[in-house]
Amino acid sequence: MSAISLASHNAGDHVLAQGLKGDPTYIVVNEDKSLADFGINAVCTHLGCVVPWNGSENKFICPCHGSQYDTNGKVVRGPAPLSLALAHAKTEENKITFTPWTETDFRTGEDPWWA
Ligand code: FES
Repeated sequence: MSAISLASHNAGDHVLAQGLKGDPTYIVVNEDKSLADFGINAVCTHLGCVVPWNGSENKFICPCHGSQYDTNGKVVRGPAPLSLALAHAKTEENKITFTPWTETDFRTGEDPWWA
């Protein structure tokens, strides 16, 4: 469970928190400043670098070999072979809780590769 202060974040921000198994996981701030109900695992599907969010480019860009992921973590440029993993995110009183995502990946319509 991670604490998050919404007051300090803007619509569209992607904020790192500690996710499942300690994996760095992004919380997505919606346009209305609510939090998205999913988290995006920050571990690059190429060789495992932690991928930073680039707000000016509006995507994730991996510093290691240049893979890119869109605002929902869907891979848009290799060498990464797969999109970033998802987790469910639930917010209560500024605390966020992640649970495993085992359903269809809404970005690809496929079974989750990480489950
Ligand atoms: Fe991210 Fe290679 S580890 S592109």
